Amino acid sequence: MKTFLQLAFLLACCYIVSCSESGNKENANKENPKDESCVQTTKDPNEVKPMALMMRTMANYCDSMRLEIKAGKKVDSIRYPLMPFWTAEPTDSSVLETLFFDNAKIIESAWHALMTDTAHQAARYTAVVDACVHCHQSYCSGPLRRIKKLPLD
Ligand code: HEC
Repeated sequence: MKTFLQLAFLLACCYIVSCSESGNKENANKENPKDESCVQTTKDPNEVKPMALMMRTMANYCDSMRLEIKAGKKVDSIRYPLMPFWTAEPTDSSVLETLFFDNAKIIESAWHALMTDTAHQAARYTAVVDACVHCHQSYCSGPLRRIKKLPLD
């Protein structure tokens, strides 16, 4: 009987958690229809589009730039070139609109500033990560969890 109660309690918890999670998702979708514009890439690894691959590379670059900058080292565009992701095929072609390209221009100049203003790379790196967050608030919000780990502190 005791185990039965424990099981019932566990099931009730799972139910509540899954409900609130899907609730959140629905809200997010309502706010932004393009929120899930990248969800398919994680489902089928063979169907990863070039834009998603470039995004992964950029996220990896940020992981290691973060460590280097924290260690007081300089980063450069030879080792960390900006990926021209805005020219690459996305999972969901409806992202290719003015707002997206405007956001791409913001990160392009932030990345350029990071590589040229070598005296202030910590601040410049922060601006790059802010640009990632900014675009991901409009498109493909899933990776935000990963992006939130990229700031220096
Ligand atoms: C101009 C908008 C924009 C900017 C800026 C941007 N992203 Fe993205 N990101 C996207 C879109 C759209 C996708 C979905 C790509 C696809 O599935 O084809 C994506 C996908 C991703 C993914 C998931 C890739 C996968 O495995 O499917 C990661 C991780 C990611 N971005 C990280 C970053 C990081 C880190 C930065 C900053 C260096 C960044 N993004 C900047 C729009 C942007």
